[in-house]
Amino acid sequence: MGTLQDAFGRHIHYLRLSVTDRCNFRCVYCLPQGCAKGPESAPLSLEEIERLARGFARLGFWKVRLTGGEPTTRPDIAEITRSISDIPGIRRVGLTTNGYRLAGIASALCGAGLTSLNVSLDSLDPERFARLTGCSRLESIVAGVEAALAAGIPSVKVNVVLLQDLCDRELDQFLAWTRHLPLGIRFIELMQTGENGAFFRQHHLSAEWMRRMLQSRGWGRLAREESDGPAKYYGRSGHVGKVGLIAPYTAGFCETCNRVRVSSTGNLRLCLFGGEEIPLRHLLQSHTQEDDLVRLIESSIEAKPASHRLQQGHCEATTNLASIGG
Ligand code: 5AD
Ligand code: SF4
Repeated sequence: MGTLQDAFGRHIHYLRLSVTDRCNFRCVYCLPQGCAKGPESAPLSLEEIERLARGFARLGFWKVRLTGGEPTTRPDIAEITRSISDIPGIRRVGLTTNGYRLAGIASALCGAGLTSLNVSLDSLDPERFARLTGCSRLESIVAGVEAALAAGIPSVKVNVVLLQDLCDRELDQFLAWTRHLPLGIRFIELMQTGENGAFFRQHHLSAEWMRRMLQSRGWGRLAREESDGPAKYYGRSGHVGKVGLIAPYTAGFCETCNRVRVSSTGNLRLCLFGGEEIPLRHLLQSHTQEDDLVRLIESSIEAKPASHRLQQGHCEATTNLASIGG
């Protein structure tokens, strides 16, 4: 079957599913005080997740990415991956992680059918990394990235949030990593959220700055590929990997949007920065509800907004990205 189209003619076939709102890091721009204590609002169970993904697959969704919080805080993350990759119609299963368990689980994830892995890694300097994330295990995360490549996960990318204090030496370290490893390193412009306004104003570094840096170091724009998503990629002779730029503040960024999100408690979000949430969990309790689920998702997607309004400083209900996974 074909994929769903929204009111603006965009083909929507990509589900980003948060499997927990818990995170064990304290990234300065996201959860500087760490995750709120107290009981977690129960995340979707393995069965609920499978029913949800089946419903989306019936609507032509063929790509699912698991996010958090930190998705690997769930002990059943490999089972979740397996159950989604077994669904007819699902061709890609991705995972976005901070990497803290990666070295130990990379090959299990690969065996479970994971096709794409994104590791958030904002610094290759152990001290700066610890300052930015509250985690002092940079080395094991770097080892995890290399383990993921060695395990044979088809696409491995590193996400780096652009911050003012990124220095030339560190930038060159990141670029050097792509010389011998088939990694995609993606630099992401910091986004303002409901909670990080002051930090954002102080630390935001534009993707345009990064583009000039790449240009001055001999990196050239690569032809666009279908799997590029929101990133624009650059390559350089002598490097097997590539470098991507994600610039959510650039005009037209939302025109190629192909995704919707579901929170860890089963609420559909049509835009990362859109306020509205459509609860789906009540339709995940039995497989006999699948037709109702499919109808609700389909009719909801018709209301997907044309664009976020970040440029105007609107971050709506998005207090931080921990609960919905960036
Ligand atoms: N701006 C940009 N990226 C963010 N992330 C979390 N919060 C923000 C923000 N405010 C990123 C993480 C990770 C991904 C899940 O989202 O660093 O790479
Ligand atoms: Fe950092 Fe992601 Fe955790 Fe936020 S959810 S604190 S960005 S690792």
